[in-house]
Amino acid sequence: MKEKVRIFLQEQEVNARIAEIAKKISDDYAGKEVHLICVLKGSVFFMCELAKRITVPVTMDFMSVTSYGNDTKSSGVVKIVKDLDEPLDGKDVLVVEDIIDSGRTLSYLLNILEKRNPKSLRLCTLLDKPERRVTDVAVDYTCFNIPDEFVVGYGLDYAQKYRNLPFIGIVEFVEE
Ligand code: IMP
Ligand code: MG
Repeated sequence: MKEKVRIFLQEQEVNARIAEIAKKISDDYAGKEVHLICVLKGSVFFMCELAKRITVPVTMDFMSVTSYGNDTKSSGVVKIVKDLDEPLDGKDVLVVEDIIDSGRTLSYLLNILEKRNPKSLRLCTLLDKPERRVTDVAVDYTCFNIPDEFVVGYGLDYAQKYRNLPFIGIVEFVEE
């Protein structure tokens, strides 16, 4: 099987929506600083575009967890590969995710972060596949709800490929 990528959301559309969400975040955090946590690697592109458009003071940190191998199905196993550099005590923390699928990664992650005593802890995601949820995760900011399809681009990968596509595409598998 070979894969083909069909454009689903154009770059301009994605960026326009990110600008709307950044405005909402800037309003909600008025008078505060927001500490963004980028969940590597998929969220890198979204994090940059979002951070550039937030108008309150921003600090950021990065963490890496795995829940997927080179497959399109969740293994349910989540491991911290790279932890944060800074403590979270007293900070208004906003976790920035690329996509929420089953929700397993995020519920595990939020649990760990909550124990580090942030002043507040919220979640922002570029994409959400609500149909696929198996655990309860409260999402505070969602750019796009999408159908149950495997998507790539704008940081998202299939077997580590396609992260650099400037748009979001749906992966279609075709016979060779
Ligand atoms: P969850 O634990 O099932 O919610 O999985 C979330 C993680 O799975 C995301 O952070 C992605 O790394 C990966 N993932 C889920 N769906 C997709 C997809 O459609 N394309 C690429 N990666 C995905
Ligand atoms: Mg991710």
